Formats: sequence, C-alpha cells, structure tokens
Amino acid sequence: MVIVLGVESTAHTFGVGIVSDEPRILADSRFNYIPEKGGIHPREAADNFIKNAPKVLKEALTQANLDIEAVDAVAVALGPGLGPCLRVGATVARALAAYYGKPLVPVNHAVAHIEIGKMLTGARDPLVVYISGGNTVITALHGGRYRVFGETLDIALGNFMDTLVRELGLAPPYVVGGVHALDRCSEGGKFVDLPYVVKGQDTSYSGLLTAALKAYRSGVRVEDICFSAREIAYSSLVEVAERGVAQLGKKEILLVGGVAASKYLVEKFRAMAEYRNLRIYVVPPKYAVDNGVMIAWTGLQLFKKGVSVEPEKAVVRQRWRLDSVDVCW
Ligand SMILES: Nc1ncnc2c1ncn2[C@@H]1O[C@H](COP(=O)(O)OP(=O)(O)O)[C@@H](O)[C@H]1O
Ligand SMILES: [Mg+2]
Repeated sequence: MVIVLGVESTAHTFGVGIVSDEPRILADSRFNYIPEKGGIHPREAADNFIKNAPKVLKEALTQANLDIEAVDAVAVALGPGLGPCLRVGATVARALAAYYGKPLVPVNHAVAHIEIGKMLTGARDPLVVYISGGNTVITALHGGRYRVFGETLDIALGNFMDTLVRELGLAPPYVVGGVHALDRCSEGGKFVDLPYVVKGQDTSYSGLLTAALKAYRSGVRVEDICFSAREIAYSSLVEVAERGVAQLGKKEILLVGGVAASKYLVEKFRAMAEYRNLRIYVVPPKYAVDNGVMIAWTGLQLFKKGVSVEPEKAVVRQRWRLDSVDVCW
C-alpha cells in the first residue's frame, strides 16, 4: 500500500490530507482563514497558516492513526496561488521531506481540483468545469494535458460572487449552511437588465460586477440585483460549457472547485445535461473547496509514476498554468 501526505496552502485554506492507493482517504485536516473584512490579505493569511500549521499536521496524523515514518511521500501544492500563502505550505512540505527523507512531489492545485473530482465521482472522460474563487476554466484532457477550451477573461466566478455580496453588505461570511450569500439573496428577486458577456468560449464578470454595483447605487432592490447577476453569471457559464461538450463530443460533464458547491448552479447544469443526454458528475461539496486530500491524491498518482523534486528545487509558482502540466498517470 502506498500512502501520501498532501499539503494545501494556495489561498485561504491550510490543509493536510493523507490518502492511500486503495484508494482511501485516511485524514483530512484543515484550517480556514476568514478575513474580518475585505478579501484575502495574502500576508495575513500566511501568518495565520504559520500559527496553525503544526496543529493541522498533527491532527491529520492522529486521524490517520499513523506515524509520519509510515508515509511514502510528501506532496505539496506549489501553485497557482498567492505567493506568501504558497510559501508556508512549501516550507512545511520541504522540511518534512528533508527531515524524514521522503520524496517530495510537486502538485498543481488546479489539476488536483479536477483529479479529486474524478476520483470521488468516477467520471472518466468529462468536459470539466472548474469554478472557484480564483479560477473559471472549461477544460478537458487531450493528448496528455488538460487543454483549456474557455476561461474567464477577467475575474473568476467565485471572486465575482464574493465581491458582489461583500459590496452589497451581505457578507462575510460568504457561505452559510452550504449556501452562498448570492444564492440566498436571489430568492424573490426579479430580472433587471445587466450585461451578459460571452466572447467565443470565454466568459467575463468584471463588467457585470460594475453594472450590478451601479444599479445598487441607483436604488435597484438588492434581491433583484442578486437574482439578475446570478442568472447572468451562471447562464453564461452553462452556455460555454454546453458548446464545449458539443464541439468536443463529450458524453460526461464534471463540476469541480468551490462554486460547484452551489446547489442552484448544479441545477442549471443538470437541466442542460438532461437536455443534451450527458452524464453529469459533481464533486461532493466537502471536496469542492480547497483541501489537502486533493493534493495528496494527485501527488500519489505522480509519485507512482516516479515524479519527485529535490526540496531545494521545490519553488512556488504563483501562475502555474493548468495546461502546462503533463498528465503522466
Ligand atoms: N456552497 C457554495 N456555493 C457557492 N459558492 C461557494 C460555496 N462554497 C464555496 N463557494 C465559493 O468557492 C470559492 C472558493 O473556492 P476554493 O476552490 O476553495 O478556492 P480557491 O479559488 O481559492 O482555490 C469562493 O468564491 C466561495 O465563495
Ligand atoms: Mg481552489
């Protein structure tokens, strides 16, 4: 049995996961940094990661009932993400690997979101819709890489949603009881005209954000703004995904990343999938958001193919693109 410990620290979550190749999740320990106001402050997040890292690591080993010696490799998300945050995870992982003499496996965070989705749902050859706070990507595996068939031209869907509800005074917290403030506040809203932008296979949300906030300042009801902004943002994503499956001839669609935890967005995708006779897979909400398990799981596959890096060469890559990673497993 092969056991890999994975460290996640790309943005707001410091997580340690442990998995075996049965496959089984042996541990999942997380610390979430929630800013009191505003968005993520990278250095403040990193400081909080440093304070909490030992506790998270110990908790993971306790959950797995393992001594660290029993781990075969240490995997770490080296990017993409926020520099100060990434460096905490990288330092912890490098130290563990060097001190205990374990191979260090570099993992791309975006690839990990997709791989955990595939593992937990059983999707085999899907068009992947990866939607989170930092990413909005339509992608599929082709010729050994996750090729990008569409993405946001500006801010990510999750970032759009979080910023809008924050500016409207509805958050933080952004998600309560598994429901995002934008989904919650859309109830009872009526449609008002806001810009719908799709360019080719790409989406865009920054113009929509500006227009929504302008409508707010001119006195339009908050629920009408939320409802309309949400309908437009989600629908534009479904549009490019639908064209993606049609063009690529895919029979499956897989939703991953934090925003895939939105039941309402999933409903919209289900309707499209039914109409097109597609199998739809959605990563379970717990593993939609950032976690160490997805890093451990992807690291395990890389490790089995012999991929590792010397600790001194394990540098963080803030802009490590999904489509530059060789999917060798
Ligand atoms: N239940 C939910 N419904 C809609 N959006 C959600 C939900 N839970 C989390 N999110 C959003 O997911 C994003 C975080 O995704 P995650 O993959 O954890 O982060 P990152 O983009 O930093 O990698 C945030 O924008 C957050 O608001
Ligand atoms: Mg993420």
